[in-house]
Amino acid sequence: MGTSKKRQVHNLRGENERATLDRYPSPRISLELLKGTGELDDLKNEKIVEPASGMGHISKFLEANGFKVESSDLGDDSETYGTGGLDFLARTERCENIITNPPYRQAIEFLKHAISITDHKVIMLLRLNFLESQSRFEFFKQFPPAKVYVISKRLPHYDPVHKEWKSDASFSHMWMVFNNRDRIGATQLEWVM
Ligand SMILES: C[S@@+](CC[C@H](N)C(=O)[O-])C[C@H]1O[C@@H](n2cnc3c(N)ncnc32)[C@H](O)[C@@H]1O
Repeated sequence: MGTSKKRQVHNLRGENERATLDRYPSPRISLELLKGTGELDDLKNEKIVEPASGMGHISKFLEANGFKVESSDLGDDSETYGTGGLDFLARTERCENIITNPPYRQAIEFLKHAISITDHKVIMLLRLNFLESQSRFEFFKQFPPAKVYVISKRLPHYDPVHKEWKSDASFSHMWMVFNNRDRIGATQLEWVM
């Protein structure tokens, strides 16, 4: 992982760690929808970095579909998929592509950093209301996403206490795609479900 800095997380364990790190996995249906958009088609011969891999829901799906994935996460417990203890925001090594569902509280920092170190696509699962707010206005003016896929059906969400999926999150989601090889300047909006 090159110059990525290791952060000490040993004082964070179990549910506390999960809550602190926003460790909520991406449901499979969200990944099927992403695949259905065709956005992954030109990544088959490229490397994908999942820098907040959590329990590996995105990484395992991509690997099962034939993609080369490098997985890491700041968390470092027994459920962590890939290399634990790596802070993505400290990563300086460049990536061909990044696909993740970032920690909600640091989503804008993840996006800005991902765009700055990625050569091709940055694809992130985000809450739909991430599109709004004055604080993100300048960012979106400077970096309009190439595509936004609004997920019209509410996604299931994971209950980490009972370790089970529950129906319908209380908020909506989208896949946001940035393409550093082809900055088209205007965002295309599509709906999927
Ligand atoms: C919403 S979860 C998503 C997990 C996984 N990407 C998925 O979609 O199933 C966010 C993940 O970000 C990780 N995380 C939080 N801060 C991080 C950081 N600075 N660097 C790397 N990972 C971080 C958390 O440990 C957690 O696993």
